[in-house]
Amino acid sequence: MWGKRTGYEKEGRRVKLGFESGEGWIEVVNPRVVHVFAPLHTPEPKSRAVEQPNPAFEDCEYRVSERDGQLEIATDELVVRVYDHFYVDIHDAAGTPICLDYRGGRDPFLRRGNVSIAEGEGHEAMRTSGHHKIEVLKAMEGGEKFYGLGDKTGPLNKRGYEYEMWNTDDPSPHVESHKALYKSIPFFITLKERAAYGLFFDNPFKTFFDLGKENSAYYYFGADDGNLDYYFIYGPEVKDVVTRYTALTGRTPLPQLWTLGAHQSRWSYAPESRVLEVAEKFREHDLPLDAIHLDIDYMDGYRVFTWDNERFPDPAELTARLRDMGIKIVTIIDPGVKKDKGYRIYDEGLEKGYYATDKDGVTYVNSVWPGDSVYPDFSDEPVRSWWADHQKIMLDAGVAGIWNDMNEPASFTGPLPDDVQFKNDGRPADHREIHNVYGHLMSQATFDGIREASGKRPFVITRAAYAGTQKYSTVWTGDNQSFWEHLRLSIPQLMNLGLSGFAFSGCDVGGFSHDCTPELLVRWVQVGAFSPLFRNHTAIGTRDQEPWAYDEETLDAYRKAMKLRYRLLPYLYDLMREAENTGIAPLRPLVLEYPHDEQVHEIDDQFLFGSRILVAPIVEQGKRHRAVYLPEGKWYDDRTGELLEGGRTILAEAPLDVCPIYVQAGTLLPAYPDRKYVGERKIDELLLYVYPGSGEYTHFEDDGESFAYRDGDYNEYRFSQAETEQGLALRLEKRHAGYADGYTMIRVAVHGVEAASVTLDGQPVEFETADGNTELLVPAEGGEILLNA
Ligand code: GLC
Repeated sequence: MWGKRTGYEKEGRRVKLGFESGEGWIEVVNPRVVHVFAPLHTPEPKSRAVEQPNPAFEDCEYRVSERDGQLEIATDELVVRVYDHFYVDIHDAAGTPICLDYRGGRDPFLRRGNVSIAEGEGHEAMRTSGHHKIEVLKAMEGGEKFYGLGDKTGPLNKRGYEYEMWNTDDPSPHVESHKALYKSIPFFITLKERAAYGLFFDNPFKTFFDLGKENSAYYYFGADDGNLDYYFIYGPEVKDVVTRYTALTGRTPLPQLWTLGAHQSRWSYAPESRVLEVAEKFREHDLPLDAIHLDIDYMDGYRVFTWDNERFPDPAELTARLRDMGIKIVTIIDPGVKKDKGYRIYDEGLEKGYYATDKDGVTYVNSVWPGDSVYPDFSDEPVRSWWADHQKIMLDAGVAGIWNDMNEPASFTGPLPDDVQFKNDGRPADHREIHNVYGHLMSQATFDGIREASGKRPFVITRAAYAGTQKYSTVWTGDNQSFWEHLRLSIPQLMNLGLSGFAFSGCDVGGFSHDCTPELLVRWVQVGAFSPLFRNHTAIGTRDQEPWAYDEETLDAYRKAMKLRYRLLPYLYDLMREAENTGIAPLRPLVLEYPHDEQVHEIDDQFLFGSRILVAPIVEQGKRHRAVYLPEGKWYDDRTGELLEGGRTILAEAPLDVCPIYVQAGTLLPAYPDRKYVGERKIDELLLYVYPGSGEYTHFEDDGESFAYRDGDYNEYRFSQAETEQGLALRLEKRHAGYADGYTMIRVAVHGVEAASVTLDGQPVEFETADGNTELLVPAEGGEILLNA
């Protein structure tokens, strides 16, 4: 398509490339990230994911030279070679090939026979993806693994599968044949023996990914419109790729602490007496809870930004009563605005021309919950700020967060036609280009509006997303089902979302559609306890899914898992702080931490919570034990306290109320005492669990809700430990003291060391021992602690 190279020109960070039939450029984003672009749709990139100014773009030196007909662009870390036909090969600085364009054409495997006979019975005919206007083929060596791509179904490693990016609301059970779900995150990580790298195809049109399915000699990505616009992101470690990708597309900002607590939801929590009853039951059953979500039932005829006066006569009073119980309200807001003359929002938007139109400029109408509805054009700034301003209506009623749903956008009377028109910030575009970023832009508006109206860190949850939505919103995986299969699926889904930049994600715990069994609920809560977002949610008409809806055993096991989550909230909060700084999500596949251990490359039924807690949940009915792979190092079995050698597979016992958990030797783990909700009472005493070994840990403390930490109003503690001949040496240090309301004391609980004497900065201090463990209380300022066994 491109023909021979005709010349080049260096222009700032870009090297402009001429070809016989077309032009493009390679942009040096930083020494490890390069951007490949050809203006097939717009002269310049118009990214919704990569905002400018952008911290990933660094001023860096690079060298351009030409020899043997190829153009070489070299940074300190990469050598990019460009050939005729716009072939691009990327090597590391030592010249080792990392990512090479495939020189042959597509050569899919053969599909034999006439499939129409099978279609007669209702089978879906398998078809090979046709050719696309843009196709980038990369050579495979054989050992590659692929991760990322957002919320896709299937295993953790996407090798051998094909996917599409087209935000899709499909309520049928999410199985491996779904090529697309609600989110379009056109980014994946390739892990090879020598190095890992990421490819981010920043094209919002429908895009296609085949990761070595049709031919094991290459993988490809493509699109039928938009620009050739992709970033190569070098590792060499998987973690480096995620960190650099999130520098480019943005990171999940530190959320308010309460948002990490338990959320309870159900489609049909109405009227308000039912909401209060649910809240009281949580308290009565000693179950921690921070938020109840109100689904579409609270609205007046599903009109967004309204309340049903009969069922919710005084929302401000309801939210105040719940607030007194420590429970916040999150309300759903869908994009579809009811077409209804006299309804203020509809009229206002219509008058201002804020809705998407058909090709003739007539407001486009489709149907969602309220019946005939119109679609706000979030691609245009005035509409985003109008929508942002409306968040105040909800916040004034005491609402603490907004749940954006149906923003693929969903529609009940057929898909939105391709030619639906959007203003797109001054560069009109049709639905094909806006569809995948619609939910992203709605989340952005919601985030901005909440921040403006509340001054606090916004809590937004969205179903549809594009690359970069993590800056604005947490996500959940949409309408799963109460199936064991979907509990299993949620683990690779959340791990891949994390690798795709979405640090704050969760799924409907217990499953949305269908009836959850008590055992499934327990096993799901045991996974949910470690998901960054925890929400038990189910559909209208399903059996009750609250923890007390079954039997005592279920309730007890549920409570146990939730109490563990609440105890670990300071740890989860630290992990979110880490995500804000590095882009690394709390819930991690083992391959992220142990990329050089091939045994873990395909593990999708175990995960790491942070770097040092290994969770191996039960995801099959009736199972009371399972195989667990422990990576290298030493691990404490949380159930037995036993110290286990890693680098091998063990058999774990898991009675119903136990989720096998292993804590790495050397871990310093902050914890809080039991609370019914975040903020129930001030924490004066931080608990610090010490699992002997060598290790370091940074702990963050602030007010948990405002942006004041960005001005230095936070405390940062540095904890470290090392084994000594006598026992254990611990160092607790308050590195930054900017939050005056912090802990006064730290209760140190050392596992597996029964001390005979303990000193703090050389002075003997009081301590207690029991069952081979040692506990002592030290001032939050810390010091040097020596435990002598
Ligand atoms: C969609 C959402 C689901 C919600 C329902 C009603 O199906 O995914 O969570 O309960 O709409 O609003």
